[in-house]
Amino acid sequence: MNEKATYIVMLGPPGAGKGTQAEILAQKLGLVHVSSGDLFRENLSNQTELGKLAQTYMRKGELVPDDVTIAMVKERLSRPDCAKGAVLDGFPRTPAQAEALNKILAEMNAKVDLVPLISVPNDVLVERLSGRWMSKSGRVYHALYNPPKVKWVDDIDGTPLYQREDDKPETVQRRIDVYYEQTAPLIDYYRQAGLLVEIDGTQEIEKVTEDILKAIK
Ligand code: AP5
Repeated sequence: MNEKATYIVMLGPPGAGKGTQAEILAQKLGLVHVSSGDLFRENLSNQTELGKLAQTYMRKGELVPDDVTIAMVKERLSRPDCAKGAVLDGFPRTPAQAEALNKILAEMNAKVDLVPLISVPNDVLVERLSGRWMSKSGRVYHALYNPPKVKWVDDIDGTPLYQREDDKPETVQRRIDVYYEQTAPLIDYYRQAGLLVEIDGTQEIEKVTEDILKAIK
């Protein structure tokens, strides 16, 4: 039984800082960081059928179909390391995914506890994504705002950093549009459920974390 499990859903446009904050929160709260985008990228680097399918959508900035996305996240949440809870980043992204998440968690005697919505204006999103450097294991850096100790090298395991294929300016714009068309309806969905807390994502990374932690308490 996991009555004490905590599930936090990070909401916000591409580049708002969901992944950055999810990683920090998971560490501070002893939870697991579950990122649907990282799961797709992991599948892609392992050349699985799911990864190859996802890539056809991701490189255009479109959403991967709900059925495969839901099945992938359901499997991840069923693993023992998620029993204490998780910080979900990038999922849910459509009303159908939000309903599916409620069902998955209900089967685990759990529920969504809090939904921090990280808000950042569009011009800042584009600047953040164009300067983002990623590690193979999903750690996120920024050339200016969150640089690694050594340029293009991961602080933790020393592997080379890379830029994401979907961080090209034209794909970034499509991802932002897709967010407002398909994911923004979740803002009202979670507001009506009394779970939404609005966070100013333009502040420094530490200050954003502080505001989310205050909301959790
Ligand atoms: P996904 O990987 O989820 O990407 P995303 O939602 O577009 O979000 P990002 O990872 O781009 O941004 P973020 O908010 O996590 O920002 P970050 O912390 O990195 O999805 C990719 C694709 O996969 C989708 O387009 C879709 O195709 C598919 N997909 C994934 N989930 C899906 C789903 N559920 N359904 C269907 N399809 C799905 O920060 C960005 C940069 O800013 C970094 O460089 C960081 O260092 C910097 N930064 C962060 N915070 C700050 C700050 N406070 N100040 C200054 N810089 C900051």
